[in-house]
Amino acid sequence: MSNNKFMEAVIQSSKEAIALEEKYGAHNYHPLPVVLTKGEGVHVWDVEGKRYFDFLSAYSAVNQGHCHPRIIQAMIDQARELTLTSRAFYNDKLGLAEKYVCEAFGYQKALFMNSGAEANETAIKLARKWGYMKKGIADNTAIIVVAAKNFHGRTTTIISASTDPSARKGFGPFMPGFEIIPYDDVPAMEKALSNPHVCGLWIEPIQGEAGVYVPHDGYLKNAAAICKKNNVLLMMDEIQTGIARTGKMLASDHENVRPDLLILGKALSGGTMPVSVVLADDDIMLLIKPGEHGSTFGGNPLAAAVCIAALQVVKDEKLADNANRLGIVFRERMNAVMKKSKLITLVRGKGLLNAIVINDSPESETAWNLCLDFAKNGLLAKPTHGNIIRLAPPLVITEEQIHECCDIIEKSILNFKK
Ligand SMILES: Cc1ncc(COP(=O)(O)O)c(C=O)c1O
Repeated sequence: MSNNKFMEAVIQSSKEAIALEEKYGAHNYHPLPVVLTKGEGVHVWDVEGKRYFDFLSAYSAVNQGHCHPRIIQAMIDQARELTLTSRAFYNDKLGLAEKYVCEAFGYQKALFMNSGAEANETAIKLARKWGYMKKGIADNTAIIVVAAKNFHGRTTTIISASTDPSARKGFGPFMPGFEIIPYDDVPAMEKALSNPHVCGLWIEPIQGEAGVYVPHDGYLKNAAAICKKNNVLLMMDEIQTGIARTGKMLASDHENVRPDLLILGKALSGGTMPVSVVLADDDIMLLIKPGEHGSTFGGNPLAAAVCIAALQVVKDEKLADNANRLGIVFRERMNAVMKKSKLITLVRGKGLLNAIVINDSPESETAWNLCLDFAKNGLLAKPTHGNIIRLAPPLVITEEQIHECCDIIEKSILNFKK
């Protein structure tokens, strides 16, 4: 087959696409057996033409809805002009995006990267450097305090801070310099941060991957206060919770907390390409000097143009307000379903980042099979950690659509047979 034939090849069926991936792709994911070919707003279509509501939103990267016309237009316009320069030269879009995010989130400096994991790696380097240069920690002894059940990405350093056996097993040796404390445990935080070697507290405001664990009110405020008291940087991973997902622009905004290092990714590009950023003030960000950190693609003009458009859509379409309002409707409906069915034991979440906990062990197939029923009935969601189903539609969803989706979920649950 010539290269041209590959480019013109059309996948005829889901079966064919799955077989190709099975044969030629690494088996590092276990997807639901649905092959998607088109997306628009809250909907995606499979190759057989069946339409679904997307209730995963690419792990909250598609908050603005699939293929948002304004984001796609910005992408096409910029792609026609210039896509990549590397940071060996300036480009005429990066400064605009830096200014945009600094003003939008209230920081003095921005450092763009690509994936969420890279942004977290950037934050780790910044916190350590600050620890040595500003806090006076002895070289190579800095500690970053993290929470159990965290998810910050997949690099070897990041998994060194993980408590998830499937993230770690077989991938050691691990990076030292992390201390793990329980999530949502203020006394443990007080104790850990009193160690003078600690330079950063690195947490998620809601633990998304772990199963949408929402901490008690006041946890973030306490974290900020304990960091301040102990001269420790608050490093907030808002990669999944940020950009309006939880009903405010940032989940930290619910408690009026301003992290020292704000880490964003995913919906920064509306799901069109990898764009991530770390925001901080000058006293932290300027500790990194030329040549000490970077990425060939980080801060490219295509990403910069897309990022500005994606954030403007969130603002213009008032997606935070929509997430807040419809999140309340959604949880009310799910709580009503829980009263009718023993299959659900808990409904939790904030804004449109929610989860239902299924009444079976994490090892059981129940949540997976329920997701297959959701798919049959036209809604896509996926279990996390076995028995928890995260439900996170694009934030452009309407009230009528939320009710339609709740009807699908309710019907699937009430008719579910083990
Ligand atoms: C809170 C959080 N941090 C980091 C990441 C990693 O982002 P990426 O997959 O873009 O590296 C994720 C991805 O799900 C996440 O939810």
